[in-house]
Amino acid sequence: MSGSENNGPRVGLIERYRDRLPFGVDDPVVSMAEGSTPIVYAPTLSQRVGAEVHLKLEGANPTGSFKDRGMTCAVSAAVRDGAQAVICASTGNTAASAAAYAGRAGLRCAVIVPEGKIATGKLAQALMHGARVIALRGNFDEALVLVRELVARHPIALVNSVNPFRIEGQKTASFEIAEDLGEIDALCIPVGNAGNVTAYWKGFTELGLAPRMFGFQAAGSAPLVNGAPVAKPETIASAIRIGNPARWEEAMTAFVGSSGMVREVTDSEILDAYRHLARHEGIFCEPSSAASVAGLLRYGPDGAARIVCVLTGHGLKDPQTALEQAGSVVPCEPEIDAVEAAVLA
Ligand code: F0G
Repeated sequence: MSGSENNGPRVGLIERYRDRLPFGVDDPVVSMAEGSTPIVYAPTLSQRVGAEVHLKLEGANPTGSFKDRGMTCAVSAAVRDGAQAVICASTGNTAASAAAYAGRAGLRCAVIVPEGKIATGKLAQALMHGARVIALRGNFDEALVLVRELVARHPIALVNSVNPFRIEGQKTASFEIAEDLGEIDALCIPVGNAGNVTAYWKGFTELGLAPRMFGFQAAGSAPLVNGAPVAKPETIASAIRIGNPARWEEAMTAFVGSSGMVREVTDSEILDAYRHLARHEGIFCEPSSAASVAGLLRYGPDGAARIVCVLTGHGLKDPQTALEQAGSVVPCEPEIDAVEAAVLA
């Protein structure tokens, strides 16, 4: 078959993997052709760590993060079940994704986010897609407790990763990795509420594969590493600023069952990896995503020869952190001598 042949429009992951997802052929599907994201070889990282390193670009999903994999399933199931509204607690990406899919499905959406602690792009998305955005004077963990109480009182579908449909959708990333690369030895992944590592492990397990799961938490928000919840989690990686992950047990099962590890990386290691990816690999991810690469750089491949690092969200989500971490612009008068001096300096 020639590459130029038209195979029709790209399909979303429910259509692509329906035989392995809890959806029948007649079920409603709310999709924006999410999934099927690129896996890109990383030459400079491979050289630095002495292993074959690939990056799974989840920022290429419709709303710019991996959440869309789970959200197509959670919102499709909500529509099937007759829900009128959806809700989530979020550090930003779940909010953006829920708002988008709910908007598309004609459902109302409310999102509860920690006040002042979510990246600008994510806030803009949630608002643009028409969600009711509630800025909680508290952190993500408190927001999640409150939404769980709220859905016990009202017929609103909860679309956080405590919802099993989220895990089902997100496990498809493992299927894609196996299809694109065959067997891998290790997966490096940032860990916040621990839904995503749970989902990847489920996906690999369903395929009969068992790559080592290397999870990384930010040092100021590392409950799984410490073995105890963190009351006041802190990190520049706002997406994973979580002190009491909902999928704690499942994540530990993944780390233990895969002979993997959960370890911490500092904010400065996260920012180093974030800048390295942008400058030397051409890939702009958000700071939380760079935790996967920061962990690989700090701890090394530990014997793994072929590794995938999951880059969970796009760098454009968080322009503020980017501008703080990047060089400054060069002001210039509109004259050739000035431009020449500015360019060649
Ligand atoms: N990376 C990004 C960019 C995220 O947004 C998140 C989680 C994670 C990694 C961690 O994934 O929670 O499944 O372990 N963001 C959630 C949110 C909490 O509300 O957007 P996890």
